[in-house]
Amino acid sequence: MIGRLNHIAIAVPDLDQAAALYRGLGVPVSPPKDMPEHGVTVIFIDLPNTKIELLHPLGDGSPIAGFLEKNPSGGIHHLCFEVDDIESAAEKLKDEGIRVLGDGRAKIGAHGKPVLFAHPKDFQGALVEFEQSS
Ligand code: CO
Repeated sequence: MIGRLNHIAIAVPDLDQAAALYRGLGVPVSPPKDMPEHGVTVIFIDLPNTKIELLHPLGDGSPIAGFLEKNPSGGIHHLCFEVDDIESAAEKLKDEGIRVLGDGRAKIGAHGKPVLFAHPKDFQGALVEFEQSS
C-alpha cells in the first residue's frame, strides 16, 4: 500500500537559518507559508525525487512545539508516504495492528489532500504520515 515518499518534515528552531542553509547548497527554497489550521509555518524544498518541509511552530498549542522543546536544535519530525486511497490505508493499518492518531479518521493535510498519521510506537519510533496521492 505504500507508494512514493512524498516528503520528509524537519522541525527547525529558526526558519530563516534553515532556509539559508538549503539555499546556500543551491536548492530552490519556497517563501515561508503560515498554516494556522495546522499550527505551523512551512518552507517547501523541492528535490528531484521528494520534498523537504521545514516546520516551525505557529501560535499556541502547535503540534511541533513539544518536539522542539525535546530537540532544541531541530530534527526529523515525520515522513510522508503516498497511498492511492486513504480509507483503505486506514483499514490496512488497523488490520496490521497499527494505531492511527486522533480519532482514527483522515483529515485534510497541508497539501489539501486527505492524510492520517500512524502512532510512532507502532512504527519503529517514526512518525509516519500517509497522504492520498490524488
Ligand atoms: Co507532512
